[in-house]
Amino acid sequence: MVRQYKIAVLPGDGIGPEVVTEAVKVLKATDLNLEYMTRKVGGKAYIEDEDPLPPEAKQACDEADAVLFGAVEHHYSPYMIPRKVLIFLRMEKNAYANVRPLKLYPGVHPSKYASTQKDIDVVIVRDNAEGFALKHDGYLWKDMGLDKRVITQLRAQQLNMYVYNYAINEKRKKITCIDKSTWLYADKLFRSTFEKVAECYPDIEREHVIIDLAAMKMTQDPSLFDVIVTPDIYGDILSAIIIAQIGGLGMAPSASIGDDFAFFEPIHGTALDIAGKGIANPMAAILSAKLMLEWLGEKREAKLIEDAVCALLTEGKIRTSDLGGSSKTSEVGDAIASRVAMSV
Ligand code: IPM
Ligand code: MG
Repeated sequence: MVRQYKIAVLPGDGIGPEVVTEAVKVLKATDLNLEYMTRKVGGKAYIEDEDPLPPEAKQACDEADAVLFGAVEHHYSPYMIPRKVLIFLRMEKNAYANVRPLKLYPGVHPSKYASTQKDIDVVIVRDNAEGFALKHDGYLWKDMGLDKRVITQLRAQQLNMYVYNYAINEKRKKITCIDKSTWLYADKLFRSTFEKVAECYPDIEREHVIIDLAAMKMTQDPSLFDVIVTPDIYGDILSAIIIAQIGGLGMAPSASIGDDFAFFEPIHGTALDIAGKGIANPMAAILSAKLMLEWLGEKREAKLIEDAVCALLTEGKIRTSDLGGSSKTSEVGDAIASRVAMSV
């Protein structure tokens, strides 16, 4: 029997709606029975309804089996807009593990800055729940800024347990904990928690690398890494080092996962400079939809999506300008959707 799922779709602002449209197009090409609840969030919702996170959007997230999210930010919206939406999705809904599977797909040429042509298949799991996350304490005075960072054992344990279980389920070999525990107190706790959790998982290789050395190694050869667990701000920065080597932000999907809630989001954000032109690469959003199907347990359909992305990239004819092509966002979506439809 085909299982039914309710998906809350929050396209948001900038290129969010353009790429999420393509992700939904591809999902519709699968055999699955998906019901979509599309809701306004972000700058447009703020301007039209004076609320970046209207109750209907929250309700859809509460009712949904999973959430597909674009990006939020608006030229004329105050800074609190992305904050309110992201705090809700990441923290209030407790999607504490931000999983960023970063792969160099066939047919994508790594950036000219990359020093390696090796296979890249790294999963960065960064903390969505605390650290310098969106709700941290901070102040800005005229002549002084302050950001207070807290890491608790409970949260670090929750994240690290997620990572070990993830590594087992995904048949990954090694977990690297990256921080600055030689220096910073919160990181000392993060690291000792990583080591403690590791005692329950003796079969998985583990290592610890200080962030500056990790950044260097990762720039030289990302294939040295498998799964990475790291506090929030480091994950944000380290993922950029890998993303630069896999074809850029248009190729970087993410999943934010909690115990009973998850949302899926391309890492790129609103990209306001190219919004409305129909030229954004929808692959990050489409691959985020693939992560969503995996999380829902629909592994077969998820694989069909990834296979279609791979086939299109290998063929090399239809691709957006960030990957050296001249195709439109919708042409990439159409091509992937039709391949998926043919293979279901
Ligand atoms: C990301 C973003 C966010 C983060 C910003 C918008 C706070 O850069 O998801 O990578 O750093 O968490
Ligand atoms: Mg970022």
